[in-house]
Amino acid sequence: MIRRSVGFNMEKRWARPSQIRVRKPPSLMPTDPMSIHSIEVELWSWSLDPDAVSVGAAHALLSDDERARAARFVKGIDRRRYIVGRAGLRRVLADYLDADPRDLRFDYNEWGKPRLHPDLQSVFRFNLSHSAAEAVVAVSEQADLGVDIEEIRPLQEDVASHFFSAAECAELANVLEAERLDAFYRCWTRKEAFVKAHGSGLSVPLQSFDVSLTAQEDRGLLVRLDHGIGSLDAWEVVNLDVAPGFCGALAVRSQGRDVRLRYRNRLAWSANMASMM
Ligand SMILES: CC(C)(COP(=O)(O)OP(=O)(O)OC[C@H]1O[C@@H](n2cnc3c(N)ncnc32)[C@H](O)[C@@H]1OP(=O)(O)O)[C@@H](O)C(=O)NCCC(=O)NCCS
Repeated sequence: MIRRSVGFNMEKRWARPSQIRVRKPPSLMPTDPMSIHSIEVELWSWSLDPDAVSVGAAHALLSDDERARAARFVKGIDRRRYIVGRAGLRRVLADYLDADPRDLRFDYNEWGKPRLHPDLQSVFRFNLSHSAAEAVVAVSEQADLGVDIEEIRPLQEDVASHFFSAAECAELANVLEAERLDAFYRCWTRKEAFVKAHGSGLSVPLQSFDVSLTAQEDRGLLVRLDHGIGSLDAWEVVNLDVAPGFCGALAVRSQGRDVRLRYRNRLAWSANMASMM
């Protein structure tokens, strides 16, 4: 994936172009020869619990509908994290489009999966996940994707038998007890990432595919897929390196191509942002 080299520069003042400049489609870019055979996915992460001034600056980046949604959260902590999650997403995507984060517009499919509004004519696809105070967004210009992160917390009940397939439940039962919680979250995030990449929400039955629970392999983690949902070869599910205490997975509609991950700098929040608006 080719993108501007500045990364996140908090000193940058965003220009407000009258129109967002859309980058050239990949076929017109001077591409890495390997990219014909591979899909590049960039991963950005950030904390959802910055200081209060930064939350205010983040709020200033949101659209009216996002602010209305933020206002509906009952708990302050959920409201703040939603604000910082959406603002982080806007900052990441705006950097790819060379645009002001406030100028981005989203639309949503039938199951609520957001994408950049078609009017922006952008090739970039993305997916966001958040858990506790952690957020991750995956971005690619080559394929649909889904990402899921979860904080590893003790389980109060038998969640696996409600959500996992028979093969996954059997694999989980064979894991040593001391390793079972981590294996549970590997399974959960891999399944969730696949559902999110597919984009059809829970209309994809959770029994219609199996993921591996292995900690040994990083790739090839989708191991069975019902024909009605798609071809197994068309998908790749990979492990993600995420913050300590979290588990993460990424699913990509790879169509047989190799998936290459690039972890970008952790997005920083700064009180300076407020004076930049
Ligand atoms: C959104 C959904 C797909 C995932 O929810 P989640 O894991 O709680 O939340 P995540 O933080 O990973 O993802 C939320 C983000 O995904 C995006 N999203 C929303 N709907 C989506 C969809 N249908 N597909 C993909 N992404 C979606 C949004 O950006 C959302 O963030 P926002 O609401 O702050 O804008 C949820 O609606 C859902 O259906 N979950 C299924 C739960 C389940 O039973 N999983 C079983 C796994 S074994």
